[in-house]
Amino acid sequence: MKTYLVTGAAGFIGSNFVKYMLSKHNDVRIVILDALTYAGYLGTIDKDIDNKRCFFVKGDIGDRQLADKLFAEYDFDYVVNFAAESHVDRSITNPQLFLLTNILGTQNLLDAARRAWVTGKDAQGYPTWREGVRYHQVSTDEVYGSLGPEGYFTEQTPLCPHSPYSASKTSADLIVMAYRDTFKMPVSITRCSNNYGPYHFPEKLIPLIIRNILSHKALPVYGKGENVRDWLYVEDHCKAIDMVISKAKDGTIYNVGGHNEMRNIDIVKLIISTIREIMETEPQYRTLLPEADRTDVSWINEGLITYVADRLGHDLRYGIDPTKIKADLGWEPETPFAKGIVKTIRWYLDNPDWVKAVTGTDYQAYYDKMYGNRFAKPNEQNDACIKSAMARKGGCEETNR
Ligand SMILES: NC(=O)c1ccc[n+]([C@@H]2O[C@H](COP(=O)([O-])OP(=O)(O)OC[C@H]3O[C@@H](n4cnc5c(N)ncnc54)[C@H](O)[C@@H]3O)[C@@H](O)[C@H]2O)c1
Repeated sequence: MKTYLVTGAAGFIGSNFVKYMLSKHNDVRIVILDALTYAGYLGTIDKDIDNKRCFFVKGDIGDRQLADKLFAEYDFDYVVNFAAESHVDRSITNPQLFLLTNILGTQNLLDAARRAWVTGKDAQGYPTWREGVRYHQVSTDEVYGSLGPEGYFTEQTPLCPHSPYSASKTSADLIVMAYRDTFKMPVSITRCSNNYGPYHFPEKLIPLIIRNILSHKALPVYGKGENVRDWLYVEDHCKAIDMVISKAKDGTIYNVGGHNEMRNIDIVKLIISTIREIMETEPQYRTLLPEADRTDVSWINEGLITYVADRLGHDLRYGIDPTKIKADLGWEPETPFAKGIVKTIRWYLDNPDWVKAVTGTDYQAYYDKMYGNRFAKPNEQNDACIKSAMARKGGCEETNR
């Protein structure tokens, strides 16, 4: 039986990882540590917590006493650190929180693991480590910065982050590798592209567009919608992390992505056409729409798209070269985007209560703030849409990672 400390697992990817691990392996025990920030929702994992194989602790990854207490109580074999402030837009409005959680929180976990796992010293004075332990850092392709229309990020691409979020994730990666070099700590890092799938908080592009369509709101798209991201179905990412933790050599960094590049605007159009088709062919789902909009669903069309002022420092394109993880570990993404996006849309249509639960007062307050900023200087062609969105009171919530 291996015991995992999984941080940030009340959030999107971490919760999917816990579900994946519990269903795939009988011999794992998982302790979730999550501060339950706006992005963490206990209802996402409450059915997984049985206090036998899966435990939940509410707390901050930066809390030294708590981390030491958990290591003493559960004797972890692995730490998988998902916990982070993860939204680029929020990092532009409050950078310091990102540095505290993403950098110092990571360093605190590394130190707690070091105190628990070091068994002595070798002849050269380096620490020796308990057999079979590993600290795994969940990182992002955003550490590499932005690509032009050509080329891909490899693990050798120089680090060149542009946002406070990506700079904090880059710093965390550097700290992890510094612990590897200085203390010979057994660590690994995965840098993945944009994830999508169930339990994705609706401030990010895909779930937000789905939610806005279902509420008959305008669909905000940054700039001209030409930013390209390499989309990875979340379960494929969870599988990659599982493989890296159990198979990769200590100190290895892997890029995780699968040549599923899409422009934001094309994703938005695809979501519109898919939801429209579902509403036409399976009218039982129309109960999710505002009552007045259920009879004729032809309003679900590209006219809902609203172009908004671009994000500051918005990276144009991310594209992952996954050759190394494929060659070393045999990992490949199994879910093509065309299939994954339909699965995801259907999950949101089937789980309106989850969406309602995670989009409470804080969510509305945040988006009211973003709404005001984004629409300060709308372009003319969008005036009509913005006015009608304002009339509907929900406004044009916007997003992109
Ligand atoms: N979502 C993506 O597309 C993507 C892509 C690449 C990398 N990543 C990385 O994957 C990880 C998970 O991303 P996500 O999208 O699931 O994030 P998320 O925002 O959905 O979830 C983050 C979780 O961390 C928790 N958390 C935040 N601060 C904490 C703290 N100080 N202590 C304990 N818990 C805290 C939150 O409560 C939440 O449950 C992050 O490290 C992120 O940088 C995400």
